[in-house]
Amino acid sequence: MNKLHQFLKTRRSIRRFKPDPVPAHVMEAILHTSTFAPSAHNLQPWRFVQVESDSAKEKLGNALTTKMRTDMELEGALQADIQKRIKISLRRISEAPIIIILCRDIEAIRENKREDEIMGIQSIALAGLQLLLAAEAEKVSGNWICWVLYAQKETISALELPKNWLPEAMLFLGYADEEPEDAKHHTHENLTIKR
Ligand SMILES: Cc1cc2nc3c(=O)[nH]c(=O)nc-3n(C[C@H](O)[C@H](O)[C@H](O)COP(=O)(O)O)c2cc1C
Repeated sequence: MNKLHQFLKTRRSIRRFKPDPVPAHVMEAILHTSTFAPSAHNLQPWRFVQVESDSAKEKLGNALTTKMRTDMELEGALQADIQKRIKISLRRISEAPIIIILCRDIEAIRENKREDEIMGIQSIALAGLQLLLAAEAEKVSGNWICWVLYAQKETISALELPKNWLPEAMLFLGYADEEPEDAKHHTHENLTIKR
């Protein structure tokens, strides 16, 4: 048990990867384990899109950064800052050996209610965490990336995804080429109510 606690505490976000590919059977095992996450009403709304080829990465990168530019221009950002942000984003997309777009099947829902939608989002997030931990077990590092949230329609269209697969997050995966950032502070704001 202590070993499991120790393992759970070792996962960190890694943002630089070696170019080495992750073998297909390792990715299959990681994805399979992630589907053992709990889900509301056991609806298992997670859908995974695996982006590996240079051409798919290019389509994804163009879609995300075009929207990024539009949003930043609307916010009045400086051109130099926009360029810098786009350059870093494209570099990170091209360097990640594997990108998983974590999608939510918007039709895998019990009722068309806000609470059910939230339960769907919570369920896919659990699969995402389980995926990162399963990757860790295979010595594959990862980083959760939120960029697709700002370009959901654009991502569906660029990668020709099924219309009911809503991109909620991305997971960049690969073999680490950096040490994690310094140990961080862990928030413990617990409230125990005993009466
Ligand atoms: C919902 C969510 C969105 C995140 N988005 C990004 C992101 O867009 N880019 C990034 O580099 N890291 C992102 N992260 C990773 C966090 O920055 C990271 O988990 C946090 O700093 C704690 O570090 P650790 O993962 O090493 O424990 C995200 C994490 C979560 C849970």
